[in-house]
Amino acid sequence: MSASIKVPFIDLKQRYEEEKEELLACVERVVSQGHFVLTQEVNEFEEQAAKYVGIKHIIGLNSGTDALMMALWANGIGKGDEVITTPVSFVATTGSIVHVGATPVYVDVRDDQNIDPAKIEAAITSRTKAIMPVHWIGRIADMDALMSIAKRHNLLVIEDAAQTMGAYYNGKHGGSVGHAAAFSAHPLKNLNALGDGGFMGTNDDDVARKVRLYRTHGLESRDSCVLYGVNSRLDSLNAEVLKFRLQRLKSVVDRRRHNVALYTKLIKQGPIMIPAEKPQEHNSYVMFITQADNRDKLKDYLAEHGIESLVYYGTALHLHKAAAKLGYKKGDFPVAERQCDRVLALPHHQHLNEEQIAYVAEKVNKFYGG
Ligand SMILES: Cc1ncc(COP(=O)(O)O)c(C=O)c1O
Repeated sequence: MSASIKVPFIDLKQRYEEEKEELLACVERVVSQGHFVLTQEVNEFEEQAAKYVGIKHIIGLNSGTDALMMALWANGIGKGDEVITTPVSFVATTGSIVHVGATPVYVDVRDDQNIDPAKIEAAITSRTKAIMPVHWIGRIADMDALMSIAKRHNLLVIEDAAQTMGAYYNGKHGGSVGHAAAFSAHPLKNLNALGDGGFMGTNDDDVARKVRLYRTHGLESRDSCVLYGVNSRLDSLNAEVLKFRLQRLKSVVDRRRHNVALYTKLIKQGPIMIPAEKPQEHNSYVMFITQADNRDKLKDYLAEHGIESLVYYGTALHLHKAAAKLGYKKGDFPVAERQCDRVLALPHHQHLNEEQIAYVAEKVNKFYGG
């Protein structure tokens, strides 16, 4: 492949080309009816997504962040409570805990960037109410270990399943094992809306009932408000798009898994590490994140050769300015911090072709002298 050819990090325009006809049909169906809020499309998406995930209730919301907050709130977590979570995530994981008035308590991660269950018990106090694992890049955290710790200490497990659609652990879909789960349908996720969107899942009827009320101002009918909520409804157009894309999700995940398998075969590991998929995992690979020596130089070298890559993310959550009040310092979570200096996400999407993957792998190997 010529060096003048670019390998983009992601290509949402290609996705549009692939789905143009069906997406425009979704727009036509919804817009022609003239109803846009909490319509049948939303109910149908919720039913179909619940069946896919293997959970009793899915409630459509307008983001994964709202889904996290509502999962915490509806499970009674608030002021004075502590929630154990990971320093490796998008900031919304910590933000949701802070927004309900609770305190995030971090525990370091394993080599695969998911929370380390072996370190959780030391962080439990009399105020701990829940564990919030993140299934980073669509690799499910060690749910067997987490559920047994939760059971021993009478804690809830609220799964940050924002990146999880299409990922399984021991044959169970991510988000179906804990007490509640928050999913994102942000454009960069595998099951993505045309803009922001999200949904919360639970098997608990009462939690589902509360979130259904909360997402629409606490109104049980037009003229009866039973609690003060917010406006966080998944809109009908996005529900229709998500229904269509749910049918395609397996194909998206299969293509992404194929790409990661090819990258893993072609890249010579050593100075660069690709966390291996464990037998109990079926990862959805929202991102393809490597851990690389000389990461910044590799990134520049790849850019010189037309390859886009991304540091995802370079700051552990406890070291953001917003976290200053939590009282952590550099050195508190050495595994996460070391990863932040090494992580590099390589181009990865379902439209990447084998020639592009071989080209990226060749350049990575060349950088390390292979
Ligand atoms: C791990 C994680 N948690 C939470 C979120 C928040 O989701 P949203 O962007 O839909 O609010 C995201 C999405 O970016 C995420 O990746």
